[in-house]
Amino acid sequence: MASIRELPTRPATRFERIGAHTHINGLGLDENLKAVKIKDGMVGQERAREAAGLVVQMIKEGKLSGKTVILAGPPGTGKTAIAVAISKELGPNVPFIQMSGSEVYSSERKKTEILIEAIRKCIGVEIHEMRKVYEGELTGMDIRTAPHPYNPYQKVPESIRLTLKSQDEEKTIEAGSTIAQQIIQQNISEGYVIQIDAETGRVVNLGISMESTKGKTYDIDVRKKIPLPPGKVLKEKEFVYTLTLADMDEINARQRFGGGIFSMFFGGAETKEIDTEVRTAVDEGVKKMVDEAKAFIHPGVLFVDDSHLLDLEAFSFLGRAIESELVPIIILATNRGVTTIRGTDVKSPMGFPLDLVDRSVIIGTEEYDADSIREILQIRSKEEKVNIRKNALEKLTEVGVKTSLRYAVQLLSLAAQNAKGAKRKDVTAEDVERVSKLFMDIKEATQHLKKYEEKMMFH
Ligand SMILES: Nc1ncnc2c1ncn2[C@@H]1O[C@H](COP(=O)(O)OP(=O)(O)O)[C@@H](O)[C@H]1O
Ligand SMILES: [Mg+2]
Repeated sequence: MASIRELPTRPATRFERIGAHTHINGLGLDENLKAVKIKDGMVGQERAREAAGLVVQMIKEGKLSGKTVILAGPPGTGKTAIAVAISKELGPNVPFIQMSGSEVYSSERKKTEILIEAIRKCIGVEIHEMRKVYEGELTGMDIRTAPHPYNPYQKVPESIRLTLKSQDEEKTIEAGSTIAQQIIQQNISEGYVIQIDAETGRVVNLGISMESTKGKTYDIDVRKKIPLPPGKVLKEKEFVYTLTLADMDEINARQRFGGGIFSMFFGGAETKEIDTEVRTAVDEGVKKMVDEAKAFIHPGVLFVDDSHLLDLEAFSFLGRAIESELVPIIILATNRGVTTIRGTDVKSPMGFPLDLVDRSVIIGTEEYDADSIREILQIRSKEEKVNIRKNALEKLTEVGVKTSLRYAVQLLSLAAQNAKGAKRKDVTAEDVERVSKLFMDIKEATQHLKKYEEKMMFH
């Protein structure tokens, strides 16, 4: 069914492991972009938060394209949390895509293909289109039918005569069978306000006219009631859609492959990979629209978590992508120091190629002190809606200091589950003790495996 809708911007967000970061609502900065110790669910890590605040401002002003932001720091120091905060600060209209470095390794698709798609999901295109439409309340209609060409006993709509009323005039138009069919299919009758694209003939049912007799009944009615359209029946109207480049690729690819006889049987052409031709055509179309001021580009953010898992091929692809015109801001998080670049035996800082590092701004995250860990655990326990006793909180804080914040956050949910299992509302020190006995932190796990290493290796 062909219809025109004015689409709200689709937040192209997808969060992985969102559960751990639900308490993050922003970077927690004041109006001078200084970090407030505890705000928006964020605690401490002031330097990184303030740096991220500047990055957000530059992204908003469009001054950061072609640059990469690196979040570097030990595990569990809030790199992902800061990226999530950045996306919250940018708001729902800026596409923000999160992926893990490991996602590029797929047996079905090429690495570059996965990266191109991710990049194109991060670029929003706001399209303004002026179209001629007939718009008005349907006050009269007359469908003329003719025998079906292959089956004379069946009648099919041949043409339709419609009378449309706007605030300024009433006009009668005659249209062919495709429009007649759409009207029938959509169950449109007198009293509805409709819009017909003068060029393509797409019919959209906008709702029931408030002026019509149908609109004046006060039955339980969920149908949308709208006023009579202003102005004349035939007019130029501006439509605004926001799509991502990836959406446009898909629509284009479908138009190319769809419509054939096979798509009738197989439900449209499923395309796993969109070929370069389609993307080039989309890019050219978009650039032309931008030149004519009919489209505006909103570059979003591609966040690659654990990006030390990317290999040289992926990095060089990203490096090249950054040079092109339609590119999002790329944020890479890593917890590696100097290490080899995957796919080579070359060592480099963070395992990234040097030219990429050269073009980046680097934000470092530091390990937390006991006070910050306690604060974060407290925020998390509120988020998980559990009451945590003071000595339990102390115990978890100790764990956090000794191992990592992330481990402590995980133990907290396990302890909460343990308390729930015992039908208690409060998380006690015993809950924490029990789960920390049941589960292992990394150090314990390593020692545990070391103990069995010989057996596992040699038998
Ligand atoms: N400064 C902070 N304020 C509030 N919560 C934080 C902060 N830093 C980390 N967290 C939380 O601690 C946990 C571990 O942090 P995470 O962002 O996963 O670390 P990383 O990505 O550096 O390994 C997450 O639940 C995260 O939301
Ligand atoms: Mg992380």
